[in-house]
Amino acid sequence: MNILISGGTGFVGYHLIKCLVNKGHLITCIIRPNSKTETLKAFDVQYISTEEIINKQIDFSQFDIVYHLASIRHKWGTSWNEYIRSGQEYTEMLLKSSVSKIAQFIFCSSVAVYGYSEELPISEETERKPYNLYGKMKLECENLVTSYNEKYGLPYTILRPSIVYGENDQQGMMTRLIKMIHNNSYHTVGGGRNRIQCIYIEDFINILEKIGTNFHPTNDGFIVSYKYPITINNLVKLIRNELQKKVILDIKIPEWFARFIAIIIEKIYQKGVKLTGPEPIIAQEKVDTMVKDVIYDISKIEKEYDFKPIFSYEHGINRLVHNLAQENKWKV
Ligand SMILES: NC(=O)c1ccc[n+]([C@@H]2O[C@H](COP(=O)([O-])OP(=O)(O)OC[C@H]3O[C@@H](n4cnc5c(N)ncnc54)[C@H](OP(=O)(O)O)[C@@H]3O)[C@@H](O)[C@H]2O)c1
Repeated sequence: MNILISGGTGFVGYHLIKCLVNKGHLITCIIRPNSKTETLKAFDVQYISTEEIINKQIDFSQFDIVYHLASIRHKWGTSWNEYIRSGQEYTEMLLKSSVSKIAQFIFCSSVAVYGYSEELPISEETERKPYNLYGKMKLECENLVTSYNEKYGLPYTILRPSIVYGENDQQGMMTRLIKMIHNNSYHTVGGGRNRIQCIYIEDFINILEKIGTNFHPTNDGFIVSYKYPITINNLVKLIRNELQKKVILDIKIPEWFARFIAIIIEKIYQKGVKLTGPEPIIAQEKVDTMVKDVIYDISKIEKEYDFKPIFSYEHGINRLVHNLAQENKWKV
């Protein structure tokens, strides 16, 4: 198949391109003037620019499908205007060019569209009520995608992954957590008994590929995650085992105290003083990730696509820890 990908220079994009190139598909990747394409050098990939699309120099009928992955990932301090540019404007540019030309538009959204629901597990039936600008932007983009289906019949699939983790992810929550545990700078916030539910990159790529190469798009949205959650305490234990780190002092920070510090640090950042690097080391949203109990029901995608993640938390963490150890010359 001839496939167009936005966000190919990112974490998910790299793994998707590697998988699709290995399966013999032709890949065209949309890049920006400052996009870093070094990681894709190993693959035979064509590049086009967003300007070429805006100037209507690219005929989308040469493509069978479009994977739209490009987006500012959830990042502290990003303004609504920046989210709109990377979200709605970019999505609409691709949708306009895709109408009547391609067989399927696959949009990578996020479980952030559901926010922190009181009712668990979160399923596709749960009200979409984002709690942050990133989730709001993803919801606006989802609405755009469905409106292009309603108005112009553009076939689509929306995927809402939970936390995706794996090799080559520089910014992800799991990579950061492993690095903090390795540096002995991790402390549990709250009791650590709350649950999170992740997905290993290879399982996510397998379902992306399966949906893309299925010529009967469902025109629907799906949560993508492991079937089961893990408590923060068990996840940390697993990472410590892989890193062979003994707990010297297990300080548990009360949630109220973490929030108090987060509020102060965020206020200092808003005044332009970057105390702990480009992003605050602790922010209220980061506290939420550490303390909120969130679980997902994946039965819809299981039924529709026979989705069966094959990587356990143990296997995925083992791979990522060894990858980070190799990259950073850690002894594990
Ligand atoms: N990783 C996760 O845990 C996770 C979970 C849920 C959903 N998602 C979604 O999955 C998709 C891929 O995520 P990822 O983890 O691969 O993210 P990533 O590593 O941060 O890559 C982001 C990609 O989007 C492009 N991009 C960033 N800002 C942009 C902007 N303002 N305008 C246009 N393009 C921009 C980047 O291109 P440049 O090279 O030009 O910067 C890059 O190719 C995203 O839509 C993300 O929201 C990810």
